[in-house]
Amino acid sequence: MVDLHTHLLPGLDDGPSTLEESVALAKAMAAAGTRVVVATPHVSSRYRTSRADIAAAAAQLREALISAGVELDVREGAEVELVRTRDLSDEQLRELRLGGRQWILVEPPLSRAAGNPVAEIEGLVARGHHVLLAHVERCPALRRSPDSVRRLLGEEVLVSITAASLTGGFGGQAQRFARWLVRERLVHDIASDAHDLEGRPPAMSDDLQAAAIDFRALRSQAGWLTGPAPAAILAGTALPPRPRGGMHDAAQRLVRRSRRWMTRRRQWW
Ligand SMILES: [Fe+2]
Repeated sequence: MVDLHTHLLPGLDDGPSTLEESVALAKAMAAAGTRVVVATPHVSSRYRTSRADIAAAAAQLREALISAGVELDVREGAEVELVRTRDLSDEQLRELRLGGRQWILVEPPLSRAAGNPVAEIEGLVARGHHVLLAHVERCPALRRSPDSVRRLLGEEVLVSITAASLTGGFGGQAQRFARWLVRERLVHDIASDAHDLEGRPPAMSDDLQAAAIDFRALRSQAGWLTGPAPAAILAGTALPPRPRGGMHDAAQRLVRRSRRWMTRRRQWW
């Protein structure tokens, strides 16, 4: 799996405080089947993380992982709070891209009091940036306006959701919206948003397996959403075709069945 959204670096945000905790988290990610991970510490009004902080912490972690024999490819990125983007120059934003390529992971507001973020996201796109929206399902304003998510999507805006949302880890509203987004085929990435081993663990494959039991649309897309799609986002290349399945296949079957019925009806008459 490729995990584009994690808080893995020590001492930068609300992720691990020490290098030992980071190594333990990385070990758990590798054991759960993650091969490539992007460390995306918060860059926000609260955490004024700089590009230099991220590079230094990532280098330190890579060295510790080699010593500990943990096979995990750690890349660099950031989770940039949407309001913080106002204060950052275009050059500073470009430096925070996932894997240094094309996409910036942007966190829309999680508070009910915040206004609608759509205009601000469009403003970022107008500045020439490519925006991967983090945990869209947890943003109350976007939940209230699902059509605005659909309208935003395109060559410059993609959607990521958190695996734990699909099993209700962030409440019923986030779960229902996450599932609606998957059913509507509006999601391009599922990430762990792991912070630690206890409260926000890297349990992406467990969450997806549990959610897929009664969710056919997820079963057909889960592999793509945690493999080829995030790999392409990280590389800054075109996304491979999304696998068919779920509602799409059901709709196709319905069309084929009604065509057969119409043909028979013509033969009878
Ligand atoms: Fe996050």
